[in-house]
Order: sequence, then structure tokens, then C-alpha cells
Amino acid sequence: MSSLEEALEQYPREPLLRGPTPLHRLDYLSDDLGVNFYIKRDDLTEMALGGDKPRKMEYEMAKAVAEGADTLVTCGSAQSNHARLTTATARKMGLKAYVVLSNDEYKSFQGNLLTVYLMGAEVRIVDTEDHWDLEKHVTDLLEELKAKGLKPYFVPVSGSTPLSSLGYVRGGLEMIRQLDELNVKLDAVYTPFGTGASFTSILMTMRDKGIECPVIGISVNRKGERLRENLEHWWSSVSELLKQDPTRDRGKYEIYDEFVGREYGDPTEACLDALMKMARTEAVLLDPVYSAKTFSGFLAHHKEGRWKKGDNILMVHTGGVPAIFAYHKFIEAHLKKRGVAIYDFELNKKDDIRPSSPHPVS
Ligand SMILES: Cc1ncc(COP(=O)(O)O)c(C=O)c1O
Repeated sequence: MSSLEEALEQYPREPLLRGPTPLHRLDYLSDDLGVNFYIKRDDLTEMALGGDKPRKMEYEMAKAVAEGADTLVTCGSAQSNHARLTTATARKMGLKAYVVLSNDEYKSFQGNLLTVYLMGAEVRIVDTEDHWDLEKHVTDLLEELKAKGLKPYFVPVSGSTPLSSLGYVRGGLEMIRQLDELNVKLDAVYTPFGTGASFTSILMTMRDKGIECPVIGISVNRKGERLRENLEHWWSSVSELLKQDPTRDRGKYEIYDEFVGREYGDPTEACLDALMKMARTEAVLLDPVYSAKTFSGFLAHHKEGRWKKGDNILMVHTGGVPAIFAYHKFIEAHLKKRGVAIYDFELNKKDDIRPSSPHPVS
């Protein structure tokens, strides 16, 4: 059995990242919370407002190129980050892009959807019960494109496949190198859990390198047993690709589903408070669908007294920030609820403007 690094080297990769993303301590937040809070800035991957997808697409695109694809096809919610970054990837590689998006509550011409149109993807909006269950709609589109003589390549929701998961094995190795350089021994890692592909790859990489702290996933969509089933699916399929023993110990991991809210994308009160807190202590922008939900999970655990002074916590910021513009009404209402006076442009009046405190969220 080869090392993880050697096994990874066997797979070709289309370079879509310029280099490592920053990993550093957030000093104000750490002082505020009494723990050492570190962040991995995967929101700062270089392509089209950044996020986790370029890491995944590096491996997936090597396969698309080998198969002679001329068109990328994907699907997601109306505010899909993955649709934005698949469109961007197509542009970087001179391919056509088609995206199938759900006709959901957050479908305004803002944020991710705006960038998808701007970068010139062909957009199909469809009615669906489940924002992530769109593959049946994609099947028809793939047939249509093939009938036109195109060579479409389908990238599933969230860009998650066993092959693309290698991007977060590589990302996990990068993270571990950076922590070594900073001489930081972690007590926990928090990361969003969507399909669970990136979570599982990070978990696997940490175990491979003998880092035993809990890896904590905050579910943004699914609930219950399905989360663990997803983890097991990615664990065995990625192990197979990398010729690692699929039975090896997963170590300590936790997945929480109580921060989702009503449904995927629900801007819960806790997540809007988390978004506000991070913005006002560190000027790091989170998003209401993934990163602020993850941070809200950490804040809830912190409030329960789980983390003690001096603990080293890392949060992986996987991006998603363009969605804040699509959620502007929710964010505006939340800021008002927390006492921020906002100029009312519609009425054209200044209503009781008060300076806001730098740390209004406890
Ligand atoms: C910003 C962001 N973070 C995290 C995820 C979820 O990643 P995964 O499906 O690997 O769990 C997504 C999925 O689209 C995303 O857009």
C-alpha cells in the first residue's frame, strides 16, 4: 500500500488554484471567545469569487479533458455556488456550460445566479421538491446536447464524486502542512457537511497523518442516518481510489443536523448571528447556507462550555459568500432586529440612525 501522497500523485489534475489558501489565527475572535480560533480560507481560492469547488474540479476536469468533453453540465439550487464555479471552470477551459437550477425561494437575480448568467452559462430553471435532487432533469438535457453533436460532461451536485474528493485530500494535506508550520496541535476541526465528500476527505487525511482530534461536520441539508451513510460511501470510494484500507479506523468524528433549520438554505437566526459576529470581529464574510451555519454550530458548542481556554479550533471556510447578496432582505431584517438602524432608501428618510457597537452579538 502506497502513502496517501504517492497514491494521489497517480491522478492527473487540471490546475485551477494558484497556490495554498491562507490558514491563520483570528486574533480578535480568539480573544473574544477565549480559544485559539484558526480559519482555513478556502473562500479565497482564486476563481470567480472563490470557494471549495476548484479543489474538487481540478481532478474532475482532468477526466473531462481525457474524455474529450466540450461542455460541462451541472445542477443545484438557484443560489448554487457549484453552478457559479462550474461555469467559471468551463470558461477557464474553453468549454460550454449548462446549469439546471431549482425554482426555489432564493432564486433572485443576485449573488451566484447573477454570476452564472454573467459568465454566460445556459440556465434551465426547473420545479422540484428537493433542491439537490435534480439529476433526472439533467438526463434529458444530456440527451439533447448529445443529439446536437456535443460531448457533455456531467458534474453532480456540489461537484462531489470519488475522483473530485481527491481535491480535499490534497486540501487536507495542505492544511496539515500549514498547521505544522504554525506548530499548532488541533483540538477540533469544524467544516460544513453537504454531500459530505469534502468532510470525509479531510477526516481521512487527518487520520492518515495521525491527527486524532474530532472532525466536526455541521450538516447544511440532510438529517439523520443519511449523513453517516454518505460518509461511509465517500470513505470506501475514496479509499478504493487511493488504494487505502477501507476498514481503517475513522477515529473521532461528529455530524450535527440540528443547525439546518427548516430546510437547506434556511437563514436561521443562529446562523445570521454567527454571520454578524464574524463580520464584526474579523471582517471575514461568511454565507448563510454553509459557513455561517458551521460557525453557528461551533458557537453553540462554545456556549455549552465544550471548549476551554487555550483550545485550538480550526474552521474550514469553504466559501459561498456571494449568496449574502441574494439573502440581503433576511440580513437587513436581522440587522434591524439586532438594533442596527438602516437608512430606508424606499421612504428616503433617515430613521433613528445609531452607531452600531463592534461586538453586538453575544
Ligand atoms: C460553500 C460550500 N461549502 C460546502 C459545500 C458542501 O460540500 P460537500 O458537498 O463536499 O459536503 C458546498 C456545496 O455546494 C458549498 O457550496
